[in-house]
Amino acid sequence: MRKRMLSLGGFFSTPGNHLAGWRHPNAVPTADMDFHMYAHITKLVEAAKFDTIFFQDTAAVSGSRALARGDMTRARISRIVKLEPTTLLCALAAVTSHIGLIATATTTYNEPYNIARRFASIDHVSGGRAGWNLVTSQIEDEAQNFGYEEHVDHARRYERAAEFYDVVAGLWDSWEDGALLRDKTSGVYMDRDRVHFLNHVGKHFRVRGPLNVARSPQGRPIVAQAGSSEAGRELAAKTADVIFTAQTQLHEARAFYADVKGRAARYGRSADDIRIMPGITPVLGRTEAEARERYEELQALLPDDLALQSMAHISGGLDLSKFPLDGPLPELPPSNAAKARQELVIRTAREQNMTLRQIARHTAAAMGHRVLVGTAEYIASELETWLSQDAADGFNVICNYYPGPLEDFCRLVVPELQRRGVFRCEYSGRTLREHLGLLVPENRYTMQRRTTSEVSPVP
Ligand SMILES: Cc1cc2nc3c(=O)[nH]c(=O)nc-3n(C[C@H](O)[C@H](O)[C@H](O)COP(=O)(O)O)c2cc1C
Repeated sequence: MRKRMLSLGGFFSTPGNHLAGWRHPNAVPTADMDFHMYAHITKLVEAAKFDTIFFQDTAAVSGSRALARGDMTRARISRIVKLEPTTLLCALAAVTSHIGLIATATTTYNEPYNIARRFASIDHVSGGRAGWNLVTSQIEDEAQNFGYEEHVDHARRYERAAEFYDVVAGLWDSWEDGALLRDKTSGVYMDRDRVHFLNHVGKHFRVRGPLNVARSPQGRPIVAQAGSSEAGRELAAKTADVIFTAQTQLHEARAFYADVKGRAARYGRSADDIRIMPGITPVLGRTEAEARERYEELQALLPDDLALQSMAHISGGLDLSKFPLDGPLPELPPSNAAKARQELVIRTAREQNMTLRQIARHTAAAMGHRVLVGTAEYIASELETWLSQDAADGFNVICNYYPGPLEDFCRLVVPELQRRGVFRCEYSGRTLREHLGLLVPENRYTMQRRTTSEVSPVP
């Protein structure tokens, strides 16, 4: 029997996902603002035949409220400045040919017409490689940049997100394939019967349409989602092509995978319409001891008070610095920012009997994602196990700093996955949908469902 193949995504959290990663002697700390480094990394994962690269985003300096209050711990934290990711995707599209390009845009502080237009444009510019990571916004610092004191309630954010998605998808379907005739002889530019007005009137939006961008090469750009709360799972099961997630234990990941794919059936979708991709942070060594040494080297750069800051957005407003570091994680009030992430951190601390210091250092190391410390064979075998046990369809590779750990992963782990027959050696398509093996969703006006190459053959 042919083995299932896994998908790989680069998850780019600049200048490195480890809170102190930028201080590593080999790190390039300007990776957050240097386009050449973004381009280097994107070309690197394309050469390794990854499906996609993903740029996370927040529309605020993370921790800016604390910084404004004079909290000087924040002055030592990286991951605060970055290039606006949809702008970045266009530039990256121009210097690459195959890699999928996914960026976050929040439904809480955007308007759907702008987002539909932006991602459809990127899909055209890139020849069918665009993806939108739909989020409801995690860090509360964003609110004050958009006229609010704090985020509106979690449930209401998801309610808006569901309607937002509906409007965006409807706008993407505005133009049927071939609706633009551009017939010089007759002088007719468009086939009026094949352009559709959305005329959406809902609780949050009134949008007439149509979109002023023609149907894009993928039919619709890929939609990724990364919420894991009850509301997040439900929206993802209904609408997402790709789900980014953060389970660290095999049993948890299997349960999440079965749960979300099971929900999809209720919306007339099949389990194969969704690709689930947990994050992993590789720490590679030629031996396990060397890998462990490298991990400890990074952790030594991280003071405890900084580690504690990595929990600020899920502490539910509790000031954790008031609690003894060697005591247990205190009871946390419910978070309005990231419910599922808060639950994951609490569960990890309780199950592994961790002190506040231990769970803070664990969370800061990979923002709660799974850390794999070991040889290339070990890491490849863990990924293969999760794939074969229906815990994942692929993985987001999240690096502590750039570019060394990603170069090592591409040089050492990718060939090992290829040798095991679970990862491609060459691209067989040109669009992100093709890499992921996903069909184009039905156009709501024509009810047709086709492969990407039938929608828009790429030369
Ligand atoms: C891999 C991954 C990437 C994420 N990227 C972002 C991001 O770029 N911006 C953001 O505001 N939230 C991001 N999130 C957070 C979620 O999208 C979501 O908004 C948050 O977890 C709250 O939803 P929940 O309570 O349903 O989990 C990410 C989460 C995960 C697991």
